Amino acid sequence: MGDTRANGRFRSQEWFDNPNNPGMTALYLERYQNQTFTREELQSGRPIIGIAQTGSDLAPCNKIHVFLMDRIKAGIRDAGGVPMEFPVHPIQETGKRPTAALDRNLQYLSLVEVLHGYPIDAVVLTTGCDKTTPALLMGAATVDIPAIALNGGPMLDGWWQGKRSGSGSMIWESRRLLAEGKIDYEEFMQRACSSSPSLGHCNTMGTASTMNAIAEALGMSLPGQAAIPAPFRERMQAAYETGRRIVEMAHEDLKPSDILTREAFENAIVVNTAIGGSTNAPPHLVAIARHAGVDLTTQDFQTYGYDVPLLVNMQPAGEYLGESFFRAGGVPAVMEELRRAGRLHEGAMTASGRTVGENISGLGSLDTDVIRPFDQPMRERAGFLVLSGNLFDEALMKTSVISDDFRQRFLRNGKFEARAVVFEGPEDYHHRINDESLGIDEHTILFIRNVGCVGYPGSAEVVNMQPPDAVLMEGIRHLPTVGDGRQSGTSESPSILNATPEAVVGGGLALLQTGDRVCLDLEAGTLNALVEDAEWQARRAAWQRPELTHQTPWQEIYRQTVGQLGRGGCLELATAYQRISKELPRD
Ligand code: FES
Ligand code: MG
Repeated sequence: MGDTRANGRFRSQEWFDNPNNPGMTALYLERYQNQTFTREELQSGRPIIGIAQTGSDLAPCNKIHVFLMDRIKAGIRDAGGVPMEFPVHPIQETGKRPTAALDRNLQYLSLVEVLHGYPIDAVVLTTGCDKTTPALLMGAATVDIPAIALNGGPMLDGWWQGKRSGSGSMIWESRRLLAEGKIDYEEFMQRACSSSPSLGHCNTMGTASTMNAIAEALGMSLPGQAAIPAPFRERMQAAYETGRRIVEMAHEDLKPSDILTREAFENAIVVNTAIGGSTNAPPHLVAIARHAGVDLTTQDFQTYGYDVPLLVNMQPAGEYLGESFFRAGGVPAVMEELRRAGRLHEGAMTASGRTVGENISGLGSLDTDVIRPFDQPMRERAGFLVLSGNLFDEALMKTSVISDDFRQRFLRNGKFEARAVVFEGPEDYHHRINDESLGIDEHTILFIRNVGCVGYPGSAEVVNMQPPDAVLMEGIRHLPTVGDGRQSGTSESPSILNATPEAVVGGGLALLQTGDRVCLDLEAGTLNALVEDAEWQARRAAWQRPELTHQTPWQEIYRQTVGQLGRGGCLELATAYQRISKELPRD
C-alpha cells in the first residue's frame, strides 16, 4: 500500500470507503456511525481531523482544552472536516511522580500508535504544560500527517501584595524566605497559590511558555497564538481558526516534514535565546528534530543561539508575566525584531501556508519595556553555553539568569575554582544539605548525580539546589550547582545541568568525591575535576554500575530504551521510524 494522498484519497477512506474490501469497510463504519457520526459524512471523502486531547482533571495546565474543544470542532466542521477528539496519555509536570519527564516518551508513543492505527487524516495537537508540547510534536513528526499545534495558553498574571507572582518563581523565592525564617508555613502556601490564578499553564517563561513559543517559531502553529492567555477571548478565536486551518492543511497535504526543516530548528534556537527560554528546550528540541529526521545537537544551541540578545523582559530572567508578553505582541513581535536584525530564516514554511517572513513582517514590539528592540536588549549574548570536561561530554549553562551579584562573587576572569560537595540524589540532598560537617560555604560547588534519564528515572528537575540555611542567612542566594538532571524552566539558578552521559551509565560525574577541587572556566567552556590522572583512572576501574530498582513496567522499558539528555532523551529505537504514514497498517 502506498501513499494514499498520492491517489487523491485521504487515508481514512481506506477504513470507511474501500470498495475493494466491503467486509472490513462495514466493520469500521457500523461502529463509528452508532453515535457521533453519520454514514454519509464518514463516506463523504471529507478529511477526518483528529484532536489529541491532553487536558483533564489530572492535567490542569491543559484543562482549558476541554473548554476549547467546541471551538476547535466548530472550525473543523465549518471548513468541511470531520472532527474526532481522542485522549492521549496525560502529563502533569508538577503532579507526576517520580517525574513528568518519564512520561514524555510515553505520550509520544501513545500518539504515534493512535495516529498510525486509526482513520485520521490530519491532527490538532493540544499543547500546554511542559512535556505535552514536545511529546505531541515528536509524535506528529514520526507519523508525518498534517498537524498543527494549539497552545492552551498561560494563566493570567498572579499577584501578591501588589507585585507580580509568577509560576515557579514565586515558590523558589518563598521557600528561601521560609528557610530564612522570614515567613511562616501559612504565608508560604498563600504566596504559592497566588501565582496560580486561573486556567492555563505557567505564566512565567518556564518550559511551557518556552516550548509553545518554540512550536510557533518552528512554524507548527498559527502565528500569534502561543502567548494568548488561556481565559482570553482571543484564545477561543485561535482555537476556531486552528480548526479551520487544519482542514486546509489536510487538503494541501502540508505535513510536518514540509515545516520541520533544519532552518526551522535554527529559527527556534534563536527565538529561544531572545525569549529567555528554558534549559529544557535543548533536549526537547533535539528530540523533535531527531524524530523529524533533522540532525540537531545541543552544540547548535551555542553555535546559533549564544550570541543572540535577550529581548523579552519576563520572569525568571526579567520582570513581567504572560499577560504583558501577549499585549506586547508575543512571539511574532520577538520574531520580527529578530528578522529585522537578519537573524531568522524568513523563507521557512509554516502551518499557516505562508513563510515565516510573510507571517510576521511589520509586527514589531507594541511595548518596548516588555519586548525590547534588538539593539536595546535586556542582555547581550544571552544564550546557552555548552560545557565539557572530565565530568561529562556536554552540559548546559543558561547565561541569561547569571546575576551580577553572582558574577562578582564567584567569577574571576570567568573562572571559579572551588570544593565539590556531592549528593547522590534529591533525598540525599534534603537529608544532608544543612549538615555543618560538609563545610559548605561560598567556595563550594554543589553536585547532584543519579538524576538523569536512566538514573532517576526520567531526569528530574533538581539541579537548582538551594544553599544551606546558614549560607542563605549570609545573603548568598545561589551557589553554583551541577548535575546530570534538569532544572525547572522557572528557576533563576545559574546551574550546569543536563550533564551527558549521566553518572549511572558511567559518566565522569560518577567518579567525583566530596572534597575534590573543581574548576569552572566559562571562557574555555569547561568544568573539570582537578584530580590526578592516575587517581581518576583508579576510581574509574573501581566503579561499578549501580543496581536500579524499577517501580513500574514502564520505568523498566523506559530505562532500557532511553538515550541521554544531550541527544534528546529519546526512545532511541523510535528515532529509526520516520514518516510512517507513508505505509498504511494492515487491515
Ligand atoms: Fe504545567 Fe508549568 S507545571 S505548565
Ligand atoms: Mg518543569
